[in-house]
Amino acid sequence: MQKLLSQTSIKNKIVLLRLDLNVPVFENKILSDFRITKSLKTIQDLLDNNNRIIILSHFGRPTEGHYDSKYSLERVSDRLQELLSQKVMLVKNWTDGVKFDDATNIIMCENVRFEVGEKENSLSLSKKIASLGDVLVFDAFGVSHRKEASSYGVSDYLDTYAGHLLESEIINAKKLLSVQTRPLTTIISGAKISTKLTLIKKLILKSDHIILGGGILNTFLSAMGNNIGNSLVESSFINEAKEILNGEHSKKIIMPIDVVSTDSLSLDNPKNKKISMLQSNDKILDIGEKTTDRYIDIIRSSKTVFWNGPLGYIEKKPYDNGTIKISEAIASSETYSIVGGGDTIPVIEKLGLQNDFSYLSTGGGSLLKFIEGEDMPILTKLGMI
Ligand code: 3PG
Repeated sequence: MQKLLSQTSIKNKIVLLRLDLNVPVFENKILSDFRITKSLKTIQDLLDNNNRIIILSHFGRPTEGHYDSKYSLERVSDRLQELLSQKVMLVKNWTDGVKFDDATNIIMCENVRFEVGEKENSLSLSKKIASLGDVLVFDAFGVSHRKEASSYGVSDYLDTYAGHLLESEIINAKKLLSVQTRPLTTIISGAKISTKLTLIKKLILKSDHIILGGGILNTFLSAMGNNIGNSLVESSFINEAKEILNGEHSKKIIMPIDVVSTDSLSLDNPKNKKISMLQSNDKILDIGEKTTDRYIDIIRSSKTVFWNGPLGYIEKKPYDNGTIKISEAIASSETYSIVGGGDTIPVIEKLGLQNDFSYLSTGGGSLLKFIEGEDMPILTKLGMI
């Protein structure tokens, strides 16, 4: 049976709340507060029911046993404080107990990954964490594929419920898996095919069209015998790509007609080129104009779109063009659209299109693992899968 916050009444308790506040930060600024805003519903619900909250989250991948200000949750607690218009007390040394003061009902523990034993799911750390509160609410979908002390071990010692965000994440991820509304178009992009190979193999069975981008696409282009010049490629996976291209579902993969590339080290001088015109010093950095139009047509004729990963090198203009045009096309279409992965959502937010997608997931790797059907320990325990 599912253990959901939405079906329980937690009142007058000290609630341990595990969130995933691992937000993208650049030059000390939060690039997207999406994971913070998506956590507000659970926080507000708990506060409305007269609970005091101890928030646990990781941030980045610091070395255990050392405080490192680069990985501090300070910017995150400041942002949460702003959003809630109430004090959030960030506590550095928290494993031996925390104390609320009169001015606040919310404590945020410093990055759980500073603590020795977090990654290996140590028993003693799990017990220490559990001793801080009366009940655990788990609302960190982004880390639900991990078996760590604050995201799994602690739940052995406290009554645990799934928060509102986790509940909606699971409903939407399941919708994608049981998709009845075809055609389904899946867009998978990213630097490395190695991290998304299982996903491609799984989704090619379910999808009607597969659109690829980034280094993944380059590896497929190379597997087809194209000269991709100086582009990012994973040569050790060319055989895997060939196997997929020779498989029975290969027709579902929509290969590009043209790309935007450059031959300059500074990445200036972008050129729209047919795949067959690429030279040995060209570097592919985005999908081309004709390809973008073709992909847009496919998206418009789809009933469901799942999108993971920007299609070009979005850090530098104009190589973000393809990703922007695809975002706009999905947003203005009638399709059921679900987007996962930390890099794509900031682009959608920047365009102000976040309300025009059916569901934006806070999950990165966790959403992919969920789709791949991998073991998700805390979700099993909560009866969510
Ligand atoms: C993410 O950003 O995908 C999650 O916060 C998980 O982070 P991790 O891969 O460092 O565990």
